[in-house]
Amino acid sequence: MDLLILLCTVLGIIGSSFEDQDSVTQWPAALHAQEDQSVTIHCNFTHSASSSIYLQWYRQDPVERVKYILQRYKLSGVPEDGDKAPGVEDRFSSFLDAPNKYTYLNISGIKMRDSAVFYCALRPTVKESGLSC
Ligand SMILES: *[C@@H]1O[C@H](CO)[C@@H](O)[C@H](O)[C@H]1NC(C)=O
Ligand SMILES: *[C@@H]1O[C@H](CO)[C@@H](O)[C@H](O)[C@H]1NC(C)=O
Repeated sequence: MDLLILLCTVLGIIGSSFEDQDSVTQWPAALHAQEDQSVTIHCNFTHSASSSIYLQWYRQDPVERVKYILQRYKLSGVPEDGDKAPGVEDRFSSFLDAPNKYTYLNISGIKMRDSAVFYCALRPTVKESGLSC
């Protein structure tokens, strides 16, 4: 079964404490996968504050609002860490390379129900109005 996973660049999910030059770039723009395959969605970002970085992944399918999946974060002086929304399966994992301003979302064992638009975002995510596809 060929599945289509849509990806989307987020321009405006950026909180008021962020600077204008903060941004995220996601690729590829769209991804086809076979059931049970693994897929990786890449995201790089610019971030003007050096003290702490939170990179979050969200998904939106046709019948639901944007939902938080998981995040990775790096705070100064402590190792990188992360957390997930309740109920998110182990099939979803993420990696953050803070110095190189790069993160990815890995989904293994792809299922039909995973088809959605996925968003990479810098926290805080106070606005949804800037979503653009
Ligand atoms: C992300 O990487 C691409 C390709 O290397 C680059 O063109 C783009 O400017 C980068 N975006 C950010 C926000 O760093
Ligand atoms: C994604 O997860 C699968 C299954 O755990 C693993 O084999 C693969 O190496 C992972 N890919 C990346 C880029 O981490």
